[in-house]
Amino acid sequence: MHNMNRVQMLEFSQRGDDRGHLVIVEGKQDIPFEIKRAFYIYGSDEGVIRGQHANRKTEFVLINVAGKSKVKVKDGEGNEAIYCLNRPHTGIYLPTMVWKDMYDFSKDSVLLVLASTHYDPDEYIRNYEEFVNEIEGGGVILYLNSRKCPLMYESFCQEVS
Ligand code: TYD
Repeated sequence: MHNMNRVQMLEFSQRGDDRGHLVIVEGKQDIPFEIKRAFYIYGSDEGVIRGQHANRKTEFVLINVAGKSKVKVKDGEGNEAIYCLNRPHTGIYLPTMVWKDMYDFSKDSVLLVLASTHYDPDEYIRNYEEFVNEIEGGGVILYLNSRKCPLMYESFCQEVS
């Protein structure tokens, strides 16, 4: 199975009461890895595209704790999918070796990113051609098991008010 098929939206339970909402994200419980690193992105304008990389070793969960953004995921074989992050209690799980772009940030967007590794710039692939080459170099097994559907496009974006 190509890693793109492992991308999934996650819904976290909300422990709200009359004081407000509380969302808990625990490593290995609510998300499939131990959290080694957290960072957050805010102040990105609507036209900005962030990400534009794949990671050889790191898995991520992205949560728009405020505002909205979109994530486009590509498998390097022509398949892509767009996910909307627009609720503080939902996130997207991104496994290793998928190409990701984050874009369409709302002015109030605060995008929290949970990562399975400490930062290592060498495990980032920032050149798309290089990513495609590494995917293709994954060998026959990866090819046979992949969802071979060139130029497929899916959108999982549902606007919520
Ligand atoms: P970058 O990976 O380009 O951010 P994004 O994925 O949102 O587009 O990171 C921007 C800069 O911050 C870059 O110089 C690397 C640095 N950085 C760290 O030092 N540690 C980290 O954990 C991250 C995510 C980035």
